[in-house]
Amino acid sequence: MKKLIILSLLLWIPLAGMANEGGNLEHVRLNMDDQAALQRGAKLFVNYCMGCHSAAAMRYKRLTDLGLTQKEIEDNLIFTGHKVGEPMVSSMDPKQAKAFFGKAPPDLSVIARSRGTDWLYAYLKGFYKDPSRPVGWNNAVFPNASMPNVLVALQGVQIAHKEAGEHGETITLELEKPGSRTPEAFDRDVKDLVSYLAYMAEPAQLLRKQYGPYVIGFLLFFTLMAYLLKKEYWRDIH
Ligand code: HEC
Repeated sequence: MKKLIILSLLLWIPLAGMANEGGNLEHVRLNMDDQAALQRGAKLFVNYCMGCHSAAAMRYKRLTDLGLTQKEIEDNLIFTGHKVGEPMVSSMDPKQAKAFFGKAPPDLSVIARSRGTDWLYAYLKGFYKDPSRPVGWNNAVFPNASMPNVLVALQGVQIAHKEAGEHGETITLELEKPGSRTPEAFDRDVKDLVSYLAYMAEPAQLLRKQYGPYVIGFLLFFTLMAYLLKKEYWRDIH
């Protein structure tokens, strides 16, 4: 019995590790069952991220999961000259990128699993102006990141107010110059983008959710049948 208890406790460990690390990060509720939102996220990804980052574990063709046709994918989402059956690889040469930014932009196929979606949301909203940095930007959740602020045209320019506190420095961001999107619209954009990154990290989750109700339905139906069968078997015995 003791062994069983220990075993069942051990089984929880990987789950606890996968839970989104909370910290002080704002929790973001993703749009995993909203196809239009995931499509917008995919569009943002190919337009604003694939200049530097790849998602080599993902084939363009798989985006049909999001309700897009192959033709739509070819016409609207492929800017790298690749074919629809090929993986989503950036046309930037990693060596060149490293020389340029000091760090090679990592592949983002499963970034939602390694960093967690709350972190990604905070990161993408967390860029602020910092002339002391080589690229001119710094980041509130990833200090001294060497990625430039690629969404600045949408978000606008943020500045940071730093305050030393008991638990280290707290950074408050303020919008100094608005971008083309209102703050609310920009939050939605980033949420769509992070939802898309979460989808890429585990594409099967959409199917799993689609099948869920059928599986439950089948189980209910099966329970009913088993019950009726039991009644039938025991009818003459009492
Ligand atoms: C101009 C090139 C460039 C573009 C465009 C770009 N990035 Fe980056 N990104 C980088 C570089 C370089 C790093 C490495 C930063 C470091 O480690 O200091 C990075 C790091 C990251 C990281 C952190 C990875 C980690 O765990 O260390 C994430 C997440 C990320 N980028 C997401 C994005 C997303 C999402 C977009 C599109 C909105 C994007 N990036 C667009 C260059 C770019």
